[in-house]
Amino acid sequence: MQKIFITRHIPEAGLKLLRKNRHLKLDIYKKDKIIPRRTLLRRVRGVDIILSILTEKIDAAVMDAAGLQLKMIANYGVGFDNIDLVEAKKRGIIVTNTPGPEITEAVAEHVIALMFALAHRLITVNKIACKNKYKGWGPELLLGNGIGGSTLGIVGGGAIGSALAKHLRDGFNLKILYHDVKKNIKLEAETGAIFCPLSKLLKQSDFVTIHVPLLPSTHHLIGATELSLMKKSAFLINTARGPIVDEAALVHALQNNLIAGAGLDVYEHEPRIPRTLRKLSNVVLTPHTASATNYVRNAMSVVAATNIIAFIQGNPPPNALH
Ligand code: DGY
Repeated sequence: MQKIFITRHIPEAGLKLLRKNRHLKLDIYKKDKIIPRRTLLRRVRGVDIILSILTEKIDAAVMDAAGLQLKMIANYGVGFDNIDLVEAKKRGIIVTNTPGPEITEAVAEHVIALMFALAHRLITVNKIACKNKYKGWGPELLLGNGIGGSTLGIVGGGAIGSALAKHLRDGFNLKILYHDVKKNIKLEAETGAIFCPLSKLLKQSDFVTIHVPLLPSTHHLIGATELSLMKKSAFLINTARGPIVDEAALVHALQNNLIAGAGLDVYEHEPRIPRTLRKLSNVVLTPHTASATNYVRNAMSVVAATNIIAFIQGNPPPNALH
C-alpha cells in the first residue's frame, strides 16, 4: 500500500482514478485554502507520494519531514518552480508535472483575450458604459487599436508559444517573432515565425508575451533594460510566472508610459498584487486564472493521476521531469 498526501482537493476525474487503485491510500487536505506550511510538514510524514499544488513550496524541509520512503512528487501544474528539483533528484525522488493540449490551448486563449482587452481598451470602455458615462458616439472618442497585422514577440517557443503563433498568424495575420534558448524548426515551418535575439524581439514587437519556465536563468528576464527596448505603443503579456518580470520595473514603465500597457495573470509575490499595479488604467489583471476552466482542471487532475499510477505500476511516468 502506497500512501499519497494531496495538498489540496483537485477535480474529481483524477481522484476517481486514484481511488480505484487498491494499492493507494489517499489523504487529502480538504480545506478550500492554501495549506499552512506547518500543517503540510505534519501531514506529509510517512507518505510515499505527495500530490502537490503549485502554491506549495516542496523543498528539502518537506522532503525531510516526509521521510526516506518518499518516492514521488506529482505536481498539479505545468510549472514546477515550486519544487526543488535538484534536491529531489539527489534523493532519487521522481517529480512529474501536468502538461497537455488542454492547458496549452486554455493559456493561449487567455493570452489572446488579454491582447484584445488591451488593444480594444475593454476595461476602460466597459467602466464608461457601466457607470453611465457614455454621452454619445464620436469619431475620435476612446480610440484603441486592433491587433490585426501587428507583430507578436513570443519569448519561449514551446507548446503555448506555438499554439499562439498558429492562432494569431492564421486568424489575424500577425507577424511572429520568437526567442528561446534553441530554435523550434516546427514552429518556424508551420507559422513562418522568425527566431531572433531577445533585444530585437523587444524592439520590433507590438505585443510581447512570455512563455518560458521560471528558472534561475529566467528570473527577471524582463527588467528595466528590456522594458526600455520595447516600443512605447507595445504591450507586455505575462501568463507564465511572475518573477520572470521585474514587477517594480514594470510598474515604473507603466506609470511613465514607457510601454502602452500590460496584461498579467501572474505576479512576483503571489497572491499579492501590488496596489501600484492595481491602480493603473493601462493594465488588465487576472488572478492566475489562465487555465481555470472545468475541462482543463479536470484534464490536469487526470494527468497527475496517470503519472502516479504509471509510477506505482513500475512504468516511467509520462511527464517525469528527470
Ligand atoms: C500551471 O499549470 O503551471 C499554471 O500556472 C496553472 O494555471
